[in-house]
Amino acid sequence: MTPLVVDNVIKRFRQGDRDVSALAGVSLDVAEGAFLAVMGASGSGKSTLLHLMAGLDTPDSGRVVIRGENLAEMNDRQLTLFRRRHIGLVFQSFNLIPTLTAEENVALPLLLDGKRESDVRPKVREMMESLGLTSRLTHRPDAMSGGEQQRVAIARALVTDPAVLLADEPTGNLDSANSKSVCELLRDLSNLHNKTIVMVTHEPTVAAYAQEVAVIKDGKLVERFATQETNGGQALALRYQECLR
Ligand SMILES: Nc1ncnc2c1ncn2[C@@H]1O[C@H](COP(=O)(O)OP(=O)(O)OP(=O)(O)O)[C@@H](O)[C@H]1O
Ligand SMILES: [Mg+2]
Repeated sequence: MTPLVVDNVIKRFRQGDRDVSALAGVSLDVAEGAFLAVMGASGSGKSTLLHLMAGLDTPDSGRVVIRGENLAEMNDRQLTLFRRRHIGLVFQSFNLIPTLTAEENVALPLLLDGKRESDVRPKVREMMESLGLTSRLTHRPDAMSGGEQQRVAIARALVTDPAVLLADEPTGNLDSANSKSVCELLRDLSNLHNKTIVMVTHEPTVAAYAQEVAVIKDGKLVERFATQETNGGQALALRYQECLR
């Protein structure tokens, strides 16, 4: 089953006395194990699209379907549970809880879901080990580098084994070395572990790690292409610039 289907979503926002069209009918689907980068200029609607995919906001019309389930047909409680179990979210600003250790942060979604502590611990340890975080279990966020914090946030997003991992500018606050390690991690998660990933970015060098690029302009999907066709960051940057013209 296709993990994520977005079908003709429209979203407008009220800004003072005018209506702003953030998404003007976007459709896209993401296959299992695919890694899709969503690119577009500032204000083009990327974050709005990601928020709709995550069920953090609702479209004015159109549908978001995850694992065959239409998010709009769920009540608040069902949606909260569905999000916790099936959607992994990663943000530019990591959003870790500062008073908790790395291990406690990663355990949180499972504990909130009522899982027993004795079942949670081995799962969390395994996830952190696979992301190279074993030496950081007891560190609090302020004692870790940005790259480590983002890897912890990715571990937290993946520990529930979600249908899809959604990341909004995950490298936006990272220097180039940490950015590279997060990009490599996301690529490996898709290539080696068949995780389904949608990542928003406006950096061609970051998008080059994905398998496909979808370009959004003025709330519309203007192009979708395989990164293989562009063979690397520079050619991808050119293709992206062409799309925006
Ligand atoms: N909560 C909101 N209230 C009002 N307008 C909003 C809201 N969220 C987004 N918008 C508007 O919708 C449009 C799309 O915004 P969005 O945040 O999706 O862009 P973006 O592509 O993520 O931009 P950036 O690259 O700067 O993050 C913009 O015009 C923005 O001002
Ligand atoms: Mg944004």
